[in-house]
Amino acid sequence: MDVSKKTDVSLVGLLDLVEASSIASIKGTVSGILSLISDPATSSFDLVQLIEVDPPLTAKILRVANSSYYATSKTISDIQQALIWIGSDTLKEIILAQKMSELYRGGTPVHGYSRLQLWRHSLAVALLAKAIYRREFGEKGNNAYAAGLMHDIGVIVEDQLLPQEFMQLVQAMEDTPQSLSGSETSFLGYDHCLVGMGLAEKWNFPDELMDGIGFHHNPEGAREEHRMFVKTIFIADYLMFEQGYGYVPVKLPDREILQQYVGDLGLQWYALRAIVALVREELGKIEQKGYLAV
Ligand SMILES: [Fe+2]
Ligand SMILES: [Fe+2]
Repeated sequence: MDVSKKTDVSLVGLLDLVEASSIASIKGTVSGILSLISDPATSSFDLVQLIEVDPPLTAKILRVANSSYYATSKTISDIQQALIWIGSDTLKEIILAQKMSELYRGGTPVHGYSRLQLWRHSLAVALLAKAIYRREFGEKGNNAYAAGLMHDIGVIVEDQLLPQEFMQLVQAMEDTPQSLSGSETSFLGYDHCLVGMGLAEKWNFPDELMDGIGFHHNPEGAREEHRMFVKTIFIADYLMFEQGYGYVPVKLPDREILQQYVGDLGLQWYALRAIVALVREELGKIEQKGYLAV
């Protein structure tokens, strides 16, 4: 296989293709929910308004809210009730996850890669990053959840819009263990971090999230004020790959880098291991209840 062959589609060209594709259909809701997450003054009214214009989304949210994972003794029949019973933070997460999951439908598993596994990975990283923020940093971590969910959005863009090249680069990884970014750069001339960051910029995502997406494999490249945030995404991504929540046969970077970032963030391994165990348990429940279905 000629690995020096690059695609004819430039990064700018690929981002233009996104705008003309079905991927752009999530833009309005996702951007809306992100600004609600980062704005503490958000009213419940804004949240309800955002969802109610999208009947299929409303139906999915009510299904998830009524699953026993979010058990209440009452049947939740509208978004207003969902807000009261499960709270606005959880509701925001469900909306974001449901809307994002639309991108991961279909596709055939090839060369150790599948869209469903990528979605499962994204959710796992989101839950772990949020849990680290909540338990270790004493912060809500809503942006960490959003960044976890979206950090690999560039991969689904490549998969959907450059399917031939994507299949080749995944096959190259199956043949020779290497990093995803390395294989992407060989075949495309750019990687999923650049694609995701370009998309985040075009769609006016908050800066912190843009750095989380763009530098999750290289936190040192992020703006200083976001470095702790991006290192958290790196750690969550690394650990979930190790725990079997990967989506492609990847060669992980040296564990020393992980050790260094864990130290930089002042995290203790025993605490981190306990959080990972809790997240695995939560993911198990989510999978059991079909919440993961896309
Ligand atoms: Fe990644
Ligand atoms: Fe990842």
